Amino acid sequence: MQETARKRLQQAERVTVLTGAGISAESGVPTFRGAGGLWEGFRPEELATPEAYARDPEKVWRWYAWRYQQVMEAEPNEAHYLLARLEEEKGNGFLLVTQNVDGLHHRAGSRRLLELHGSITRARCERCGHRQPLPPPDEFEPPPYCERCGSRMRPDVVWFGEFLDADLLARAERAFMTSEVALVIGTSAVVEPAASLGRLAKAAGAYLIEINPEATPLTPLADLSLRAGAAAGLRWLLE
Ligand code: APR
Repeated sequence: MQETARKRLQQAERVTVLTGAGISAESGVPTFRGAGGLWEGFRPEELATPEAYARDPEKVWRWYAWRYQQVMEAEPNEAHYLLARLEEEKGNGFLLVTQNVDGLHHRAGSRRLLELHGSITRARCERCGHRQPLPPPDEFEPPPYCERCGSRMRPDVVWFGEFLDADLLARAERAFMTSEVALVIGTSAVVEPAASLGRLAKAAGAYLIEINPEATPLTPLADLSLRAGAAAGLRWLLE
């Protein structure tokens, strides 16, 4: 089965990948769920919802500024680089969809990349929707103000209770439904609609590979579920 997976991946022209917080764990960025996770001791509604922001924008910005600093101090790890290399090999038929907001895939060189939940490295104007990168962490004083209209900006991420960008989601779904091999790496596969991408691919006939040290709701559906960290699993699949 494992040899089949390697061959399928090697031969496939259309490959999609979904990543979650687990791929950045080896860069030292904490995941959300589980021991030591970001949500441990916090209720997401206290920080990552539009209501929390309306109630206490300073508190929410402080939390995002702290995470921004944390991700900028982190470096992409081998798993991020292996996916950038896979993109080079596959070209047009490749798409990487991430739930991560840490910007590490982009910094590792991935360009056929959809950041479904936005990016912590940008802000979005509350009034005109303009997006701009945050200044370097040591110069950043939240909240940022829009360079176009001067209004206050919010983190450019998708919060609980908000809709994903419909166009991005449609592109992700199309790619997963037409892929020959779908790889799902480092996600607990519980937050919709991203969690469904692997299922969609499988239902449409793709060969589904999961890489995760723990079993997830996707595991029973996968053609191969590697109980491994992201870098070790990818190294083995791609070598
Ligand atoms: N390599 C691969 N996977 C790992 C590793 C590792 N080294 N370490 C942990 N994992 C796995 C865990 O087993 C878990 O299944 O990564 C997963 C992380 O799950 P979550 O913390 O739930 O992260 P994610 O699935 O990305 O969460 C989805 O929830 O709160 C939101 O918006 C946030 O995008 C996030 C979404």
